[in-house]
Amino acid sequence: MTYRGPYKIRVEDKPMPVIEHPNDAVVRVTLAAICGSDLHLYHGLMPDTRVGHTFGHEFIGVVEQVGSSVQNLQVGDRVMVPFNIFCGSCWFCARGLYSNCHNVNPNATAVGAIYGYSHTTGGYDGGQAEFVRVPFADVGPVKIPEWMSDEDAVLLTDATATGYFGAQLGDIAEGDTVVVFGAGPVGLVAAQSSWLMGAGRVLVVDHLDYRLEKAREFAHAETLNFAEYDDIVVELKKQTDFLGADVAIECVGAEADGNLLQHVTGAKLKLQGGSAVALNWAIDGVRKGGTVSVMGAYGPIPNAVKFGDALNKGLTLRMNQCPVKRQWPRLFEHVRNGYLKPADMVTHRFPLEEIADAYHVFSNKLDGCIKPLILPSAA
Ligand SMILES: NC(=O)c1ccc[n+]([C@@H]2O[C@H](COP(=O)([O-])OP(=O)(O)OC[C@H]3O[C@@H](n4cnc5c(N)ncnc54)[C@H](O)[C@@H]3O)[C@@H](O)[C@H]2O)c1
Ligand SMILES: [Zn+2]
Ligand SMILES: [Zn+2]
Repeated sequence: MTYRGPYKIRVEDKPMPVIEHPNDAVVRVTLAAICGSDLHLYHGLMPDTRVGHTFGHEFIGVVEQVGSSVQNLQVGDRVMVPFNIFCGSCWFCARGLYSNCHNVNPNATAVGAIYGYSHTTGGYDGGQAEFVRVPFADVGPVKIPEWMSDEDAVLLTDATATGYFGAQLGDIAEGDTVVVFGAGPVGLVAAQSSWLMGAGRVLVVDHLDYRLEKAREFAHAETLNFAEYDDIVVELKKQTDFLGADVAIECVGAEADGNLLQHVTGAKLKLQGGSAVALNWAIDGVRKGGTVSVMGAYGPIPNAVKFGDALNKGLTLRMNQCPVKRQWPRLFEHVRNGYLKPADMVTHRFPLEEIADAYHVFSNKLDGCIKPLILPSAA
């Protein structure tokens, strides 16, 4: 898969990835996915997305080649690869902040590195491809447990880990009312995970009815279609004794709909780092003293955020790119026990050759699309 400019994706032959460092591996991709984050790239919203870049930060595969210092992996191992590239030994990695690793991204100090996510996150080619170079092969990848299905494994490399992380950062207390903005894969898992953390009530907000239906069925949540209300925040207040929810989890990000001015200045004209509609609804929709957990992705400077309101309400704001591998031990248990069923979100499977169609369908939310997977032919 190569990027040719906004809304333009092509399948091209590229040179075979090679071992560039003794701790690299080359992985033959057997299954990949497209994330909501890839859509920000596809729409030309992320700075420094270069023509020729290969996207894809959710993938699993088989180890094809290892560098001379790799000890934990062998050729032929089935591996799942977290979307973050991280060194495992810097100040930040030592504290579990794998998404903020200090050693892997020469282009920015705020964020660490991500496969296939523009040069702002390091410029590493991603896994929507037949083969991919995996740096720090002893640190990130894990052998897929025998009992785990490929589709569960690929969804644990980002969407499932991120949704769960969103609920974790919400600091949900027993009986809390949690509102989740966005019924994409991240929001669906955040809603499902909120129950695991003791929520007493879970509401999901979106404007796509087929996704809200999925939120009811998959995550057993109450749902609100924001397009049906003059003011979704007022409706949320009405539904929560006029106090607001205890916790909001924002799983929408920079391209949020629902406010024309924000959409034009943020998503279209790029005068700010995205449309802060869902973020502002989260700030307005929680009660005083509540917590807002932000999983949605933004550019560096959204400037129309209700920060003063957040301060005056005494809110706790928490956010990060998900440190995926930190979530895995607990998530493996939840998947094994059947508490989380990531693969149930998969609606589409496209061969790599048809990836341009996959982006089109997912981007336009056509054909009931929730999560599309990509199958490389070399698999
Ligand atoms: N922090 C992380 O580590 C991390 C990891 C993965 C994804 N993300 C981000 O999470 C977000 C969601 O990802 P996804 O894969 O679920 O994407 P997605 O595009 O499938 O889902 C986004 C959903 O938000 C809905 N939406 C739009 N405007 C809304 C609004 N104002 N209020 C409520 N819902 C609204 C859309 O209809 C859509 O259903 C993206 O911004 C993505 O970049 C972050
Ligand atoms: Zn992602
Ligand atoms: Zn590090």
